[in-house]
Amino acid sequence: MYNIRKIDDDLTFVGVNDRRLNLFENVHPLPEGVSYNSYLLKDKKNVLFDTVDWSCGRQFFENVEAALDGQDLDYIVVHHAEPDHAATLDEILIRYPKARVLCSAKAKTFLEQFGHDVANRVDTVKNGDTVSFGKHELTFIAAPMVHWPEVMVSFDSTTGTLFSADAFGSFKTLDGVLFEDEINGAEEIAWLNEARRYYTNIVGKYGKNVQMLLKKAAGLDIKMICPLHGVIWRHDIARFIEKYDLWSRYEPEHLGVVIACGSMYGNTEQAADILANALVQRGVKRVRFFDVSKTHPSYVIAAIFRYSHLVIASPTYNLGIYPPVHNLIDDMKNLNIQNRTISIVENGSWAIKCGTLIGEELEGLSDCSILGNRVTLKSSVSEDNRESLIALAQAIADDIYAKKN
Ligand code: FEO
Repeated sequence: MYNIRKIDDDLTFVGVNDRRLNLFENVHPLPEGVSYNSYLLKDKKNVLFDTVDWSCGRQFFENVEAALDGQDLDYIVVHHAEPDHAATLDEILIRYPKARVLCSAKAKTFLEQFGHDVANRVDTVKNGDTVSFGKHELTFIAAPMVHWPEVMVSFDSTTGTLFSADAFGSFKTLDGVLFEDEINGAEEIAWLNEARRYYTNIVGKYGKNVQMLLKKAAGLDIKMICPLHGVIWRHDIARFIEKYDLWSRYEPEHLGVVIACGSMYGNTEQAADILANALVQRGVKRVRFFDVSKTHPSYVIAAIFRYSHLVIASPTYNLGIYPPVHNLIDDMKNLNIQNRTISIVENGSWAIKCGTLIGEELEGLSDCSILGNRVTLKSSVSEDNRESLIALAQAIADDIYAKKN
């Protein structure tokens, strides 16, 4: 049975919730699911904005049919060819044989690479092209690498609606909510956390490209943002754009410390705990502690984007960096983390190498600096180590206070 909702007189939400997928891109946990958003515009020409993942096809086809209410479909805009948004395109083309696809030339190539039979059904558009559907006029804006190279967003100047593709998206199913102003206060933080985790892990690498898109968007009178995942933004758009601006410039939202700790037998963890204790006692209000063996890196990455300082605590393992810590550092490099102040705690029973190796790995990150003296444990925390950890906490607290003032 269909489940749709009117956004305004002409636009209807026809997207779907996916509560069955465990891992987004088969990588990132989805404890609260994800939505695949799709929108149907009814005008002289009827236009479908993107499709959904194949797993939710049945609900989606019913939604589109109900929203069309007996009318035919004229166009399908493909802003982004990734399968979570384009997998059901073929079936839509079969069901609506007169419909034509509007997308970038690169999107056409990607659709064909993914095996979609679109060769004679596509009209390619490029940056700045405008298409009128009757009352509504749509301008296409190239947004390469937000999140793939073929991505375009589009702006309906009649209603001030930005169809933003993956930009401004979020993990988490909609659960009856469609607009951000329908989220109640207690849930708002959960939404922002999942929006941050989505942005930082999915689009975070491409801050420069997001900045270019934000500059283009600044010239538009945007009244509503319709992304391909998560809630529609219409009430406090400026607040979310401000977050996007910070994230895409790799600027922290808050002065605070993420402790990313790997520990085999609890000794490195004990050192990190002593450090956390000392930080809070020195007035550092925002300390987030992660056991990287237990917490998926997507959560740690989101926290690293959020806060200014990072402590990496790791045992030496096979003469290298403890694998879960190494994995996190790889993610940091892949996601282009910049502009963070980082401290290191290392451990080992012999040939203690991981601190040096972590330092070498971090050299590849832009505008990151090492703060304080590296603390080296030999198997467990000694009295000297304890003093060094407290000195490191003091150095971090001093740095935070200096940056605050
Ligand atoms: Fe939601 Fe880049 O796909």
